[in-house]
Amino acid sequence: MVTNEDRMNCSVHLSEDGTRLVLIDQTQLPNRQISLTMDKAEDIYDAIKRLAVRGAPAIGICAGYAMYVLAYHLGEEDRRDYDSFHAAMSRYADYLISSRPTAVNLSWAVKRQMALIDANAGKDPEELIKLLKAESIAIHDEDIEMCTRIAEYGLSLIKPGDGLITHCNAGPLATSKYGTALGPMLLAKERGIDIHVFSDETRPLLQGARLTSYELTKAGVDVTLICDNMASVVLKQGKVQAAFVGCDRIAANGDFANKIGTSGLAILCKYYNVPFYTLGPLSTIDMDCPTGDDIKIELRDPDEIRNMWYQEPMALPETKCYNPAFDVTDHTLLTAIVTDQGIIYPPFDVNLKKLFEK
Ligand code: MRU
Repeated sequence: MVTNEDRMNCSVHLSEDGTRLVLIDQTQLPNRQISLTMDKAEDIYDAIKRLAVRGAPAIGICAGYAMYVLAYHLGEEDRRDYDSFHAAMSRYADYLISSRPTAVNLSWAVKRQMALIDANAGKDPEELIKLLKAESIAIHDEDIEMCTRIAEYGLSLIKPGDGLITHCNAGPLATSKYGTALGPMLLAKERGIDIHVFSDETRPLLQGARLTSYELTKAGVDVTLICDNMASVVLKQGKVQAAFVGCDRIAANGDFANKIGTSGLAILCKYYNVPFYTLGPLSTIDMDCPTGDDIKIELRDPDEIRNMWYQEPMALPETKCYNPAFDVTDHTLLTAIVTDQGIIYPPFDVNLKKLFEK
Protein backbone atom coordinates (compact mmCIF):
# COMPACT_ATOMS: atom_id res chain seq x y z
CA MET A 1 0.00 0.00 0.00
CA VAL A 2 1.58 3.29 -1.15
CA THR A 3 1.37 6.19 1.35
CA ASN A 4 1.52 9.91 0.75
CA GLU A 5 4.89 9.88 2.49
CA ASP A 6 6.17 7.39 -0.13
CA ARG A 7 5.05 9.80 -2.87
CA MET A 8 6.55 12.87 -1.18
CA ASN A 9 9.91 11.06 -0.98
CA CYS A 10 10.05 10.77 -4.79
CA SER A 11 11.82 13.18 -7.14
CA VAL A 12 8.42 14.17 -8.62
CA HIS A 13 5.24 14.71 -6.56
CA LEU A 14 2.38 17.09 -5.84
CA SER A 15 2.79 20.07 -3.50
CA GLU A 16 1.47 19.74 0.08
CA ASP A 17 -1.75 21.55 -0.90
CA GLY A 18 -2.14 19.25 -3.92
CA THR A 19 -2.33 21.99 -6.57
CA ARG A 20 1.20 22.24 -7.97
CA LEU A 21 3.91 20.02 -9.39
CA VAL A 22 7.11 19.69 -7.35
CA LEU A 23 10.32 18.20 -8.70
CA ILE A 24 13.94 17.90 -7.69
CA ASP A 25 16.03 19.80 -10.23
CA GLN A 26 18.30 16.96 -11.34
CA THR A 27 20.59 19.35 -13.26
CA GLN A 28 21.79 20.71 -9.90
CA LEU A 29 22.84 17.37 -8.41
CA PRO A 30 25.04 16.25 -6.75
CA ASN A 31 26.10 19.69 -5.51
CA ARG A 32 22.75 21.33 -4.72
CA GLN A 33 19.35 19.93 -3.62
CA ILE A 34 16.89 22.31 -5.24
CA SER A 35 13.15 21.70 -5.58
CA LEU A 36 11.09 23.45 -8.24
CA THR A 37 7.38 24.10 -7.83
CA MET A 38 5.39 24.78 -10.98
CA ASP A 39 1.91 25.18 -12.41
CA LYS A 40 2.58 26.65 -15.87
CA ALA A 41 2.84 24.61 -19.07
CA GLU A 42 5.92 26.52 -20.31
CA ASP A 43 7.81 25.86 -17.05
CA ILE A 44 6.95 22.15 -17.12
CA TYR A 45 7.92 21.88 -20.81
CA ASP A 46 11.21 23.60 -20.03
CA ALA A 47 11.91 21.34 -17.01
CA ILE A 48 11.47 18.23 -19.19
CA LYS A 49 13.47 19.68 -22.10
CA ARG A 50 16.50 20.75 -20.03
CA LEU A 51 16.40 17.50 -17.98
CA ALA A 52 15.51 19.07 -14.63
CA VAL A 53 13.19 16.07 -14.58
CA ARG A 54 14.54 13.12 -16.52
CA GLY A 55 14.46 9.34 -16.73
CA ALA A 56 11.60 7.76 -18.65
CA PRO A 57 9.30 6.76 -15.73
CA ALA A 58 9.88 10.07 -13.86
CA ILE A 59 8.95 11.98 -17.01
CA GLY A 60 5.78 9.85 -17.21
CA ILE A 61 4.87 10.59 -13.57
CA CYS A 62 5.60 14.28 -14.15
CA ALA A 63 3.37 14.31 -17.27
CA GLY A 64 0.51 12.64 -15.39
CA TYR A 65 0.66 15.26 -12.62
CA ALA A 66 1.18 18.06 -15.17
CA MET A 67 -2.09 17.24 -16.92
CA TYR A 68 -3.96 17.49 -13.61
CA VAL A 69 -2.15 20.66 -12.41
CA LEU A 70 -2.68 22.42 -15.74
CA ALA A 71 -6.38 21.48 -15.69
CA TYR A 72 -6.67 22.79 -12.11
CA HIS A 73 -5.23 26.16 -13.14
CA LEU A 74 -7.28 26.60 -16.34
CA GLY A 75 -9.02 29.95 -16.67
CA GLU A 76 -12.81 30.36 -16.54
CA GLU A 77 -13.20 30.35 -20.33
CA ASP A 78 -11.49 26.96 -20.69
CA ARG A 79 -13.46 25.31 -17.89
CA ARG A 80 -16.89 26.65 -18.77
CA ASP A 81 -18.02 23.37 -20.42
CA TYR A 82 -16.75 19.96 -21.54
CA ASP A 83 -15.83 21.01 -25.09
CA SER A 84 -13.74 24.03 -24.11
CA PHE A 85 -12.06 21.95 -21.37
CA HIS A 86 -11.28 19.16 -23.87
CA ALA A 87 -9.87 21.61 -26.42
CA ALA A 88 -7.59 23.28 -23.84
CA MET A 89 -6.35 19.94 -22.49
CA SER A 90 -5.67 18.62 -26.01
CA ARG A 91 -3.47 21.66 -26.67
CA TYR A 92 -1.54 21.02 -23.43
CA ALA A 93 -1.23 17.32 -24.32
CA ASP A 94 0.35 18.05 -27.73
CA TYR A 95 2.62 20.68 -26.22
CA LEU A 96 3.93 18.44 -23.41
CA ILE A 97 4.45 15.46 -25.72
CA SER A 98 6.62 17.63 -28.01
CA SER A 99 9.13 18.37 -25.22
CA ARG A 100 11.11 15.10 -25.63
CA PRO A 101 10.44 12.51 -28.32
CA THR A 102 12.20 9.30 -27.31
CA ALA A 103 10.85 8.15 -23.91
CA VAL A 104 7.44 6.62 -24.55
CA ASN A 105 6.36 7.12 -20.91
CA LEU A 106 5.79 10.82 -21.59
CA SER A 107 3.19 10.31 -24.33
CA TRP A 108 1.86 7.22 -22.52
CA ALA A 109 0.96 9.24 -19.39
CA VAL A 110 -0.42 12.22 -21.33
CA LYS A 111 -2.55 9.92 -23.52
CA ARG A 112 -3.78 8.06 -20.43
CA GLN A 113 -5.04 11.36 -18.98
CA MET A 114 -6.64 12.35 -22.32
CA ALA A 115 -8.31 8.93 -22.56
CA LEU A 116 -9.82 9.54 -19.13
CA ILE A 117 -11.25 12.87 -20.34
CA ASP A 118 -12.61 11.17 -23.49
CA ALA A 119 -14.15 8.36 -21.46
CA ASN A 120 -16.04 10.93 -19.38
CA ALA A 121 -17.32 12.97 -22.31
CA GLY A 122 -19.88 15.61 -21.38
CA LYS A 123 -19.01 15.70 -17.66
CA ASP A 124 -18.52 18.91 -15.73
CA PRO A 125 -14.86 20.13 -15.88
CA GLU A 126 -14.75 20.39 -12.06
CA GLU A 127 -15.55 16.68 -11.89
CA LEU A 128 -12.93 15.92 -14.58
CA ILE A 129 -10.24 17.79 -12.66
CA LYS A 130 -10.87 15.53 -9.64
CA LEU A 131 -10.63 12.46 -11.88
CA LEU A 132 -7.34 13.71 -13.39
CA LYS A 133 -5.90 14.19 -9.91
CA ALA A 134 -6.84 10.66 -8.86
CA GLU A 135 -5.41 9.25 -12.11
CA SER A 136 -2.12 11.14 -11.71
CA ILE A 137 -1.73 9.69 -8.22
CA ALA A 138 -2.58 6.23 -9.58
CA ILE A 139 0.17 6.57 -12.24
CA HIS A 140 2.65 7.48 -9.50
CA ASP A 141 1.56 4.67 -7.14
CA GLU A 142 1.72 2.10 -9.93
CA ASP A 143 5.29 3.20 -10.67
CA ILE A 144 6.32 2.79 -7.03
CA GLU A 145 4.85 -0.73 -7.00
CA MET A 146 6.34 -1.61 -10.41
CA CYS A 147 9.81 -0.50 -9.36
CA THR A 148 9.62 -2.71 -6.29
CA ARG A 149 8.65 -5.73 -8.40
CA ILE A 150 11.36 -4.99 -11.01
CA ALA A 151 13.94 -4.76 -8.22
CA GLU A 152 12.88 -8.20 -6.88
CA TYR A 153 13.03 -9.84 -10.33
CA GLY A 154 16.38 -8.16 -11.04
CA LEU A 155 17.80 -9.31 -7.71
CA SER A 156 17.10 -12.92 -8.70
CA LEU A 157 19.75 -12.49 -11.44
CA ILE A 158 22.48 -11.45 -8.99
CA LYS A 159 24.82 -13.68 -6.99
CA PRO A 160 26.66 -12.56 -3.83
CA GLY A 161 30.03 -11.09 -4.78
CA ASP A 162 28.94 -10.10 -8.30
CA GLY A 163 30.34 -7.08 -10.08
CA LEU A 164 27.72 -5.14 -12.08
CA ILE A 165 27.95 -2.33 -14.60
CA THR A 166 25.35 0.32 -15.38
CA HIS A 167 25.03 3.26 -17.74
CA CYS A 168 23.25 6.61 -17.29
CA ASN A 169 20.86 6.77 -14.32
CA ALA A 170 17.89 4.50 -13.78
CA GLY A 171 17.61 4.92 -10.03
CA PRO A 172 15.03 6.48 -7.69
CA LEU A 173 15.59 9.97 -9.15
CA ALA A 174 14.61 8.70 -12.61
CA THR A 175 11.58 6.78 -11.34
CA SER A 176 10.23 6.29 -7.85
CA LYS A 177 11.33 4.29 -4.82
CA TYR A 178 14.01 1.79 -6.00
CA GLY A 179 14.35 2.80 -9.65
CA THR A 180 14.66 0.20 -12.38
CA ALA A 181 18.27 -0.75 -13.23
CA LEU A 182 19.50 0.39 -9.80
CA GLY A 183 16.61 -1.34 -8.01
CA PRO A 184 18.29 -4.76 -7.66
CA MET A 185 21.47 -3.07 -6.42
CA LEU A 186 19.62 -1.08 -3.75
CA LEU A 187 17.65 -4.15 -2.72
CA ALA A 188 20.86 -6.21 -2.55
CA LYS A 189 22.29 -3.61 -0.15
CA GLU A 190 19.12 -3.71 1.99
CA ARG A 191 19.36 -7.51 2.21
CA GLY A 192 23.06 -7.55 3.04
CA ILE A 193 24.09 -9.12 -0.31
CA ASP A 194 27.61 -8.11 -1.22
CA ILE A 195 27.91 -6.59 -4.74
CA HIS A 196 30.12 -4.09 -6.50
CA VAL A 197 28.90 -1.62 -9.13
CA PHE A 198 30.78 0.16 -11.91
CA SER A 199 28.96 3.31 -12.99
CA ASP A 200 29.75 4.69 -16.46
CA GLU A 201 30.00 8.47 -16.18
CA THR A 202 27.76 8.80 -19.29
CA ARG A 203 28.96 11.62 -21.52
CA PRO A 204 27.86 14.25 -22.35
CA LEU A 205 25.38 14.95 -19.53
CA LEU A 206 27.13 12.82 -16.91
CA GLN A 207 24.04 11.19 -15.40
CA GLY A 208 26.24 8.28 -14.27
CA ALA A 209 28.67 10.54 -12.42
CA ARG A 210 26.22 13.10 -11.11
CA LEU A 211 23.25 10.88 -10.30
CA THR A 212 24.05 7.13 -10.27
CA SER A 213 27.25 7.29 -8.25
CA TYR A 214 25.50 9.84 -5.97
CA GLU A 215 22.44 7.65 -5.35
CA LEU A 216 24.44 4.45 -4.85
CA THR A 217 26.99 6.12 -2.58
CA LYS A 218 24.24 7.66 -0.43
CA ALA A 219 22.62 4.22 -0.15
CA GLY A 220 25.92 2.66 0.94
CA VAL A 221 26.37 0.53 -2.21
CA ASP A 222 29.99 -0.14 -3.17
CA VAL A 223 30.26 1.87 -6.42
CA THR A 224 33.20 2.86 -8.62
CA LEU A 225 32.81 5.61 -11.19
CA ILE A 226 34.51 5.02 -14.54
CA CYS A 227 34.70 7.01 -17.77
CA ASP A 228 32.59 5.49 -20.55
CA ASN A 229 35.68 4.42 -22.48
CA MET A 230 36.93 2.32 -19.53
CA ALA A 231 34.10 -0.21 -19.59
CA SER A 232 35.97 -2.61 -21.88
CA VAL A 233 38.86 -2.74 -19.39
CA VAL A 234 36.77 -3.82 -16.39
CA LEU A 235 34.90 -6.30 -18.59
CA LYS A 236 38.14 -7.78 -19.88
CA GLN A 237 39.50 -8.00 -16.33
CA GLY A 238 36.51 -10.19 -15.40
CA LYS A 239 35.27 -7.71 -12.81
CA VAL A 240 31.73 -7.60 -14.21
CA GLN A 241 29.23 -10.48 -14.13
CA ALA A 242 26.19 -8.61 -15.52
CA ALA A 243 25.12 -5.28 -17.01
CA PHE A 244 21.88 -3.63 -15.83
CA VAL A 245 20.57 -0.60 -17.75
CA GLY A 246 17.29 1.28 -18.01
CA CYS A 247 15.24 1.92 -21.15
CA ASP A 248 13.30 4.78 -22.72
CA ARG A 249 11.31 2.78 -25.25
CA ILE A 250 11.27 -0.95 -26.00
CA ALA A 251 10.03 -1.87 -29.47
CA ALA A 252 7.85 -4.92 -30.12
CA ASN A 253 10.87 -6.95 -31.30
CA GLY A 254 12.96 -6.18 -28.18
CA ASP A 255 15.18 -3.47 -29.70
CA PHE A 256 15.32 -0.64 -27.17
CA ALA A 257 16.34 2.99 -26.91
CA ASN A 258 18.35 4.11 -23.91
CA LYS A 259 20.96 6.75 -23.15
CA ILE A 260 23.62 7.18 -25.80
CA GLY A 261 26.43 4.70 -25.12
CA THR A 262 24.14 1.85 -24.08
CA SER A 263 24.46 0.00 -27.36
CA GLY A 264 28.27 0.28 -27.28
CA LEU A 265 28.25 -1.25 -23.79
CA ALA A 266 25.96 -4.05 -25.01
CA ILE A 267 28.36 -4.84 -27.88
CA LEU A 268 31.26 -5.01 -25.40
CA CYS A 269 29.27 -7.29 -23.10
CA LYS A 270 28.49 -9.63 -26.00
CA TYR A 271 32.20 -9.78 -26.84
CA TYR A 272 33.16 -10.59 -23.26
CA ASN A 273 30.21 -12.94 -22.73
CA VAL A 274 28.64 -10.87 -19.96
CA PRO A 275 24.79 -11.00 -19.70
CA PHE A 276 23.15 -7.71 -20.61
CA TYR A 277 19.75 -6.81 -19.10
CA THR A 278 17.43 -3.88 -19.55
CA LEU A 279 14.93 -3.20 -16.79
CA GLY A 280 11.72 -1.22 -17.17
CA PRO A 281 7.98 -1.16 -16.48
CA LEU A 282 5.36 -2.21 -19.05
CA SER A 283 4.71 1.51 -19.77
CA THR A 284 8.13 1.60 -21.46
CA ILE A 285 7.21 -1.14 -23.94
CA ASP A 286 5.68 0.30 -27.10
CA MET A 287 3.93 -2.49 -28.99
CA ASP A 288 2.94 0.05 -31.68
CA CYS A 289 6.61 0.47 -32.48
CA PRO A 290 7.71 -2.59 -34.52
CA THR A 291 11.53 -2.20 -34.31
CA GLY A 292 14.25 0.12 -33.06
CA ASP A 293 14.35 1.77 -36.50
CA ASP A 294 10.92 3.24 -35.72
CA ILE A 295 12.08 5.02 -32.55
CA LYS A 296 12.63 8.74 -32.93
CA ILE A 297 15.96 9.76 -31.43
CA GLU A 298 16.26 13.17 -29.79
CA LEU A 299 19.11 15.38 -31.04
CA ARG A 300 20.42 17.84 -28.46
CA ASP A 301 22.39 21.07 -28.34
CA PRO A 302 26.02 20.73 -29.59
CA ASP A 303 27.12 22.95 -26.68
CA GLU A 304 26.50 20.02 -24.34
CA ILE A 305 29.59 18.50 -25.97
CA ARG A 306 31.65 21.65 -26.60
CA ASN A 307 31.15 23.68 -23.41
CA MET A 308 29.01 22.20 -20.75
CA TRP A 309 30.73 21.30 -17.46
CA TYR A 310 34.05 22.79 -18.59
CA GLN A 311 35.62 25.93 -17.14
CA GLU A 312 36.33 27.01 -20.69
CA PRO A 313 35.19 25.62 -24.05
CA MET A 314 36.94 22.40 -25.10
CA ALA A 315 36.32 22.96 -28.82
CA LEU A 316 36.11 25.94 -31.11
CA PRO A 317 32.58 27.40 -31.30
CA GLU A 318 32.42 26.46 -34.99
CA THR A 319 33.34 22.81 -34.34
CA LYS A 320 30.59 20.60 -35.72
CA CYS A 321 29.10 18.25 -33.13
CA TYR A 322 26.60 15.43 -33.43
CA ASN A 323 24.69 14.92 -30.20
CA PRO A 324 22.06 12.15 -30.30
CA ALA A 325 20.72 11.73 -26.75
CA PHE A 326 19.92 8.02 -27.18
CA ASP A 327 20.91 4.99 -29.18
CA VAL A 328 19.10 1.78 -30.02
CA THR A 329 20.45 -1.52 -28.72
CA ASP A 330 19.69 -4.41 -31.02
CA HIS A 331 17.61 -7.15 -29.38
CA THR A 332 20.23 -9.74 -30.39
CA LEU A 333 22.57 -8.19 -27.80
CA LEU A 334 20.02 -8.43 -25.01
CA THR A 335 19.94 -11.37 -22.59
CA ALA A 336 16.53 -10.49 -21.10
CA ILE A 337 14.09 -7.69 -20.34
CA VAL A 338 13.25 -7.41 -16.64
CA THR A 339 9.72 -6.05 -16.27
CA ASP A 340 7.34 -5.68 -13.35
CA GLN A 341 5.51 -8.71 -14.78
CA GLY A 342 8.55 -10.99 -14.85
CA ILE A 343 11.73 -11.62 -16.84
CA ILE A 344 11.21 -11.83 -20.60
CA TYR A 345 13.70 -13.92 -22.58
CA PRO A 346 14.09 -14.30 -26.39
CA PRO A 347 12.36 -14.64 -28.76
CA PHE A 348 11.29 -11.14 -27.68
CA ASP A 349 8.77 -10.56 -30.49
CA VAL A 350 6.84 -13.70 -29.45
CA ASN A 351 7.21 -13.29 -25.69
CA LEU A 352 6.39 -9.56 -25.55
CA LYS A 353 3.25 -10.21 -27.59
CA LYS A 354 2.25 -12.97 -25.14
CA LEU A 355 2.86 -10.60 -22.22
CA PHE A 356 0.46 -8.01 -23.62
CA GLU A 357 -2.15 -10.61 -24.55
CA LYS A 358 -2.34 -11.74 -20.91
O1 MRU B 1 18.21 11.82 -21.14
P1 MRU B 1 17.81 11.09 -19.88
O2 MRU B 1 18.70 11.38 -18.73
O3 MRU B 1 16.33 11.29 -19.57
O4 MRU B 1 18.00 9.57 -20.26
C1 MRU B 1 17.64 8.61 -19.32
C2 MRU B 1 17.92 7.21 -19.68
O5 MRU B 1 18.34 6.89 -20.76
C3 MRU B 1 17.52 6.19 -18.66
O6 MRU B 1 18.35 5.09 -18.68
C4 MRU B 1 16.09 5.74 -18.94
O7 MRU B 1 15.22 6.85 -19.04
C5 MRU B 1 15.56 4.82 -17.92
S1 MRU B 1 15.26 5.62 -16.38
C6 MRU B 1 14.61 4.44 -15.37
